[in-house]
Amino acid sequence: MHLWVRNLKSEPISSILEKIKTVGQQALEQIQTACTLEGLDQVRIFFLGKKGVFSLILRELENFSSIDRPQLGQSANLWKRKIQQALLEKKEELQEFLFQQAIENEKVDITLPSKFQHQGKEHLITQTIHRIIEIFFSLGFDVASGPEVETEYLNFEALNISQDHPAREMQDSFFLTKNVVLRTQTSCAQIRAMQQQSWPIRIVCAGAVYRRDDEDPTHSSLFHQLEGLWVDQNIQMSDLKGVLEFWAKRMFGNQVRIRFRPSYFPFVEPGAEVDISCFCQLYANQSKGECRICKGSQWIEVLGAGMVHPELFKRVGYLKENHDQNIRGFAFGMGIERLAMLLYQIPDIRYFFQGDLRFLSQF
Ligand code: FA5
Repeated sequence: MHLWVRNLKSEPISSILEKIKTVGQQALEQIQTACTLEGLDQVRIFFLGKKGVFSLILRELENFSSIDRPQLGQSANLWKRKIQQALLEKKEELQEFLFQQAIENEKVDITLPSKFQHQGKEHLITQTIHRIIEIFFSLGFDVASGPEVETEYLNFEALNISQDHPAREMQDSFFLTKNVVLRTQTSCAQIRAMQQQSWPIRIVCAGAVYRRDDEDPTHSSLFHQLEGLWVDQNIQMSDLKGVLEFWAKRMFGNQVRIRFRPSYFPFVEPGAEVDISCFCQLYANQSKGECRICKGSQWIEVLGAGMVHPELFKRVGYLKENHDQNIRGFAFGMGIERLAMLLYQIPDIRYFFQGDLRFLSQF
């Protein structure tokens, strides 16, 4: 090609114009057949580069007379522009083609599971609440809810907790205003449920409760309870025992033991505290005397329970005077954290509230 350029001077102008055209067409053909960006760039360098064919042609034109030079120059520049335009178009075409090819090769399979397992999950307390609710659900209980900010009336008075009861003191409960308190127990859900609907009634209600308790491995000032209430004609203490034993076995397995100890709650009569055999009894690797949860007693208190006090029925209008239809009921309130501690052998209640992912992600 370079030889061809050097010989230009000896030829007639028409033949040179023809040759410029031929070179131009060759350039266009090579551009069209280039199939990589590198190949295209080589074509560009060969025809339009500093030492390329068209640069040599234009340099060679200086040797022609001023009559022939404009015509030759015009033709060479025309072909040069055509080639530049063709190079540009081809480059865009190749880039688009390569882009499409990359998309094709990197096709994302959206059905593949993610490599990053950053999926959030329910807090252990929520998981435990759901597990308990499932069991009571299978016994026909409905789920009720109530607010964490309660009136003093529903948290205390309606539950037969007298004015002089220590729980009413500012140092035992979190009062927001004179008559408004952060609920100290989910038992207010009993009153709310009975105010809202007539008997028969069978509900559970779970949520946070607040007390000014000193914190230690089994006590926290914020914790969770689940309340249960069953009111109907002729309900008996044995029904309460049967329901709680059924629940305990479903929750912890058939080997679990459960015991009732007489206790006092102003809103039940008779009342009981219910203990569950500590996990140090179930697992051979746990030395009994060293257990931080039961402190060697082998039992852990998990709930309070009893037969609904007739005074509560009166307050919600269930008992019309001289017209006892044998309406009875039982209620219970369990501590969720203590149950989760038993289930998963967690030695300290404070782990639940520290937000430490090393702890939380285990469940
Ligand atoms: C009550 O709160 C009663 N409302 C339960 C009840 C309901 C009795 C219905 C009768 C009828 P108590 O204060 O014992 O009872 O608390 C119930 C459970 O909550 C306890 O057994 C314990 O498991 C848990 N609990 C109590 N205080 C704390 C605390 N500070 N930290 C963690 N769990 C606690």
